[in-house]
Amino acid sequence: MTAIIPAAGKGTRFLPATRVIPKEMLPIGAKPAIHCIVEEALAAGADDIVLVISEEKEIIRRYFEGDETLFGKVRYVYQREQRGLGHAVLQAAEGVTGSALVLLGDALVTGPNPSREMVAISKANGGASVVGLERVPPERVSRYGIVALEGRAAACGAGDAARIVDLVEKPKLEEAPSDLAIAGRYLLSADIFSLLATQTPGHGGEIQLTDAIRRLLATQPVFGYVYPGKRQDIGNPQGYLKALEAFNGIV
Ligand code: UTP
Repeated sequence: MTAIIPAAGKGTRFLPATRVIPKEMLPIGAKPAIHCIVEEALAAGADDIVLVISEEKEIIRRYFEGDETLFGKVRYVYQREQRGLGHAVLQAAEGVTGSALVLLGDALVTGPNPSREMVAISKANGGASVVGLERVPPERVSRYGIVALEGRAAACGAGDAARIVDLVEKPKLEEAPSDLAIAGRYLLSADIFSLLATQTPGHGGEIQLTDAIRRLLATQPVFGYVYPGKRQDIGNPQGYLKALEAFNGIV
């Protein structure tokens, strides 16, 4: 199984720190965040890790090339223009034939290994795609891709999985089908790549991964997995400080 870790974004929300240090390289204890994410993918059964980087972020490559235990398991593709997350994932398409894990390079999730849980949910559901979900407070609903789950989303508890019936990108609170947001981890069937290749730019003029997942939903089952833990976004200073607190003593 291939795991794709997009880490080519600009990191503008964390300037000036990210002027020279990629946010993905910020330490969580003694390890850079992206090292923790690579370990999560390996523990979930990935044996081919593709890091999507840019020329400005070569330091990520230098870091992993210095690690003997990971040598041969990690490879690199370049996103030459920052055209969005969907575009970053598309750069890793070559040679991927089965389902691929996608782990955002700036997101950490507390609790049980989310990628491993999602692999198990996929296996139990005929190899279906699975996306990780977190409950968000009302004031943040309009910032994310929000899903409608089969049955009652409100009844879906931490650690549960259910089939997604709809996905609305950045809805107004009144129009949101639930408070469950797609966040940070995805296990996607290889069909996602042909959808990404034809995906028109969406929010912010970028190729959005969630727009392609919405189209995937129309043709095949996609499940949502509600994290029992919390998703930590290290892409901004406040989120990073929270992540340090959340992983204190764990990493
Ligand atoms: P973000 O949505 O946080 O975007 O990316 P960003 O550009 O990195 O950050 P800001 O908004 O400028 O602060 C989520 C993940 O997807 C990667 C990022 O590196 C991050 O790990 N990404 C995003 C890419 O690889 N390429 C892109 O074009 C956009």
